[in-house]
Amino acid sequence: MGTQENEQTGVTGRRMLLGAAVLGAGGAVLGLSGTARAGEARHGGGGLRSLPKPTIIGHRGASGYRPEHTLAAYQLALDMGADIVEAGDLVPTKDGHLVCRHEPEIGGTTDVADHPEFAGRKKTKLLDGVSTTGWFTEDFTLAELKTLRAIERIPANRPHNTLYNGRWEIPTFEEVLKWQDEQTRRRGKQVWIYPELKHPTYFRKLGLGLEERVAKVLHKHGKDRRNSPVILQSFEPTSIQRLNKLVDNPLVVLLSAANDRPWDFVETGDPRTVADLVKPSGLREIASYAQGIGPTLDLIIPKDAKGNLTTPTTLVADAHKVGLVLHPWTLRNENPFLPANFRKGTGADAYGDVFGAYKAYFATGIDGVFTDQPDTGVLAREDFVNG
Ligand code: G3P
Ligand code: CA
Repeated sequence: MGTQENEQTGVTGRRMLLGAAVLGAGGAVLGLSGTARAGEARHGGGGLRSLPKPTIIGHRGASGYRPEHTLAAYQLALDMGADIVEAGDLVPTKDGHLVCRHEPEIGGTTDVADHPEFAGRKKTKLLDGVSTTGWFTEDFTLAELKTLRAIERIPANRPHNTLYNGRWEIPTFEEVLKWQDEQTRRRGKQVWIYPELKHPTYFRKLGLGLEERVAKVLHKHGKDRRNSPVILQSFEPTSIQRLNKLVDNPLVVLLSAANDRPWDFVETGDPRTVADLVKPSGLREIASYAQGIGPTLDLIIPKDAKGNLTTPTTLVADAHKVGLVLHPWTLRNENPFLPANFRKGTGADAYGDVFGAYKAYFATGIDGVFTDQPDTGVLAREDFVNG
């Protein structure tokens, strides 16, 4: 749910690492010491509202430059100055471990198709009402998944990233939490993560409920508190409600297209759509169990029939009125992912005027944004903050 890649075609040419952002990220934060600062680092300090604004969130890591949901992609996001890393989208294995993949089907993001020993695991399943063919994490043990290696999801748009195919394994959530601590120590600065629970209703019906597993692992690592540097997100409001009873972390309800109906609503017979949830009454209800929303960018500024940005909606003001922060998704540098009026040239792989797009979205008052290229996001924020 919620991806934009499938509708895109073309190839990516430019893949510049914007030097200032990369160099600036690590150096400035070294040297933090003392008990109070150590405590702050451990617990995330002042919580969600202590984050820089607009907050730059590394979407699946720095997935514009590395195969998504690998420790290398997460690491690069930090090196580029991301304030938070989306580590990871979480799905379970057959033996109940949580691993970082965007969806249960792993044919598009791993080399599983090249493993003859797993050829018989290829299946067609109904995933939230959509017939899906491939290999599914719930049919593999963690030990089996660890024999696979990550590959680039959208090689047509990001051919340079295929250089790294086969290099990194699928991380577990436990490994991410340890990595977070190591990175926090190494950088002298609290590292934040933003895991998403994927398809919670689907997995609960398979006997692999996600929320209890996530809560248990967070509790084990002492990261289930209000000020813990871990924000949890889901497209299913009932999953966030369930989490609200299990942990004290900041919680965010993701919102896809206005006419979509969250899958848990479909299963429980709740007739509401996203359009209902973004009304003041829907937002008030969300604010009773969550601290934020993660809307698609189109809910912030709709596009016209030609794909050009139009006039912002009142969603930012309406959400802020009930105390919710907004972290929309997803800004990407490449032309096919940008509003039509910010594309440059015709190359599907070329970068468009993404700084212009950032300026338009930041002007609406959003609190942060998910991006595949955190270095660009950090520079865009500098432009915005410095006027
Ligand atoms: O979680 C924010 C954003 O990542 C939602 O979209 O589909 O990329 O998980 P998706
Ligand atoms: Ca996500």
